[in-house]
Amino acid sequence: MIIAITGANGFVGSNLCKHFLAKGYEVKALIRKTASTASLPASAKVFLLNYDDKQHMGEILKDCDVLVHNAGKTKARTHYEMLKANCGITEDLISVLNTLQKPLHFIYISSQAVAGPVTGNNPLSEENPPNPISCYGKSKLAAETVIQAKCRTPWTIVRPCSVYGCGDRDFLSLFKMVKSGLAVQIGKQDKLLNMIHVSELAEFLELCVVNPQAKGQIFAASDGKIYTQREVVLTIAKVLNKKPLRIVIPLWLAKQFFYTGHLIGLVSKRAVVLNREKMKEILADGWLSSPQKAQALLNWNPEANLTKHLKETAECYQKLGWL
Ligand SMILES: NC(=O)c1ccc[n+]([C@@H]2O[C@H](COP(=O)([O-])OP(=O)(O)OC[C@H]3O[C@@H](n4cnc5c(N)ncnc54)[C@H](OP(=O)(O)O)[C@@H]3O)[C@@H](O)[C@H]2O)c1
Repeated sequence: MIIAITGANGFVGSNLCKHFLAKGYEVKALIRKTASTASLPASAKVFLLNYDDKQHMGEILKDCDVLVHNAGKTKARTHYEMLKANCGITEDLISVLNTLQKPLHFIYISSQAVAGPVTGNNPLSEENPPNPISCYGKSKLAAETVIQAKCRTPWTIVRPCSVYGCGDRDFLSLFKMVKSGLAVQIGKQDKLLNMIHVSELAEFLELCVVNPQAKGQIFAASDGKIYTQREVVLTIAKVLNKKPLRIVIPLWLAKQFFYTGHLIGLVSKRAVVLNREKMKEILADGWLSSPQKAQALLNWNPEANLTKHLKETAECYQKLGWL
């Protein structure tokens, strides 16, 4: 079986390539011509994908059985840039898939950001109306809408929650903060969230590949557990053997950091992590999705060992010289 993966050089994409290669699948790692191949396994067949050339995309995809469309932006300078990266290239790919003689299974990596945050502690199901609160979530919802309206090949939409693991730079900041001896919490309220290790996400996607019941479905993807932010920080502290000092930053002060980050992004014309959009997501009450649909249809039942996976992540960061 041939599986093509877009954004194959990124954090999630490179880990998906490694997983599917290790499981004996043939993998076409699709990257942009400017991308580095450093994170890709040597055995991956790398293809430079030009998203502006539909004929060329068709040539690369015509013999594939599955396309995991993982490429996308999690931060951008403008809403337009985000929409173009997340919805625009999805629409272009679909128009190519619709012309292929051999229909392939299109698996889209969306995000929990589409479902939106929870108020209280009741996880959202895939049946709840989407409620994205950031440009990121709205751009992912736009892509999902295009898939459902236009994709004539079988599709599956997967909405991962926060993904962590080897090669991820977002959680790296948290690891660095804890290593420096600080455990910063924004606001007094300890928030609830889901997590998924990148190896678990790869397992989840493999279930979507092999199980025909996945076709035409939207799935939330998490390790099935509910964590508090404090629990995640304390587990990182445990694996790093640190006793960090807890500091609670008042909401009004945290907002100033995000607004300043946003301004820095505008002036420097760079996509910064701490921006106004990220603020909406971080300040939300909690991010919880129900694993029930995936459990029922895909038999999804991961080990969900946060300590083990955070330990592996720390070791990987140390090996890479990042921590
Ligand atoms: N990490 C998470 O916690 C998380 C959670 C839920 C969903 N997701 C989704 O998972 C996917 C991968 O995320 P990640 O964390 O692995 O991010 P990442 O490390 O930044 O990788 C993003 C990949 O997408 C490619 N890409 C970005 N903008 C593009 C564009 N305009 N056209 C074509 N390719 C583009 C990048 O290519 P270049 O290197 O060439 O820029 C890179 O290969 C994204 O779709 C993201 O929305 C991630």
